[in-house]
Amino acid sequence: MEILTVAMAKGRIANQAITLLTEAGILFSDYDHKSRKLIFMDETKSIKLIFVKAVDVPTYVEQGAADIGVIGKDVLLEDPKDVYELLDLGIGKCKVAIAGFPDTELGARTQLKVASKYPNIAKSHFDQKGIRTDIIKLNGSVELAPLIGLADCIVDIVETGTTLKENGLVVLETITEVSARLIVNKASYAIKTERIQDFISDVKKGLEVYS
Ligand code: PRP
Repeated sequence: MEILTVAMAKGRIANQAITLLTEAGILFSDYDHKSRKLIFMDETKSIKLIFVKAVDVPTYVEQGAADIGVIGKDVLLEDPKDVYELLDLGIGKCKVAIAGFPDTELGARTQLKVASKYPNIAKSHFDQKGIRTDIIKLNGSVELAPLIGLADCIVDIVETGTTLKENGLVVLETITEVSARLIVNKASYAIKTERIQDFISDVKKGLEVYS
């Protein structure tokens, strides 16, 4: 059977996604979340799972290095790629939100310094609100920016809210709810249609058990 390559975002959605695949009958018996190994084969040796940095998943899929990808909608919104988005997996649920100190009044400002891992989402959201922004792109620990005066507020993902809470910040406005999506390379879908449809149908069955 021809091999399907699935690119999986390392980190918060990987464990949930592996559980979902297991429910779907797609078994990676040697997978261990503590392992530094980057490639795993399923028990039938027909599905190759590769672990990549979350922001790189759509690139692997668009370029055809992977047939299928599992990635958060936040990443797809920030940097849209020419891929099919075929399924909402309903895992990795969180929101993209504006956050800051509780007394920050966004409406009262015409100009804001905004720190974010999502500069495109942030800019387009504030543009729609008619608020001019100076966007500062950060790659992590974004919550630090308001605390040390680097920015007036942040745009970031909020899952449990713990990071905000422990740093004295609150959600000021939710931009959008997000979850993990299954994306597919367009050429792969044309060439391996049946194989990919079977995979998706298995995952859908897994979703029924999982949810
Ligand atoms: C993400 C995000 C927040 C945090 C939100 O960071 O950027 O900092 O998780 O999760 P919570 O609401 O459950 O606290 P991540 O863990 O990816 O680390 P990073 O800061 O290094 O990007």
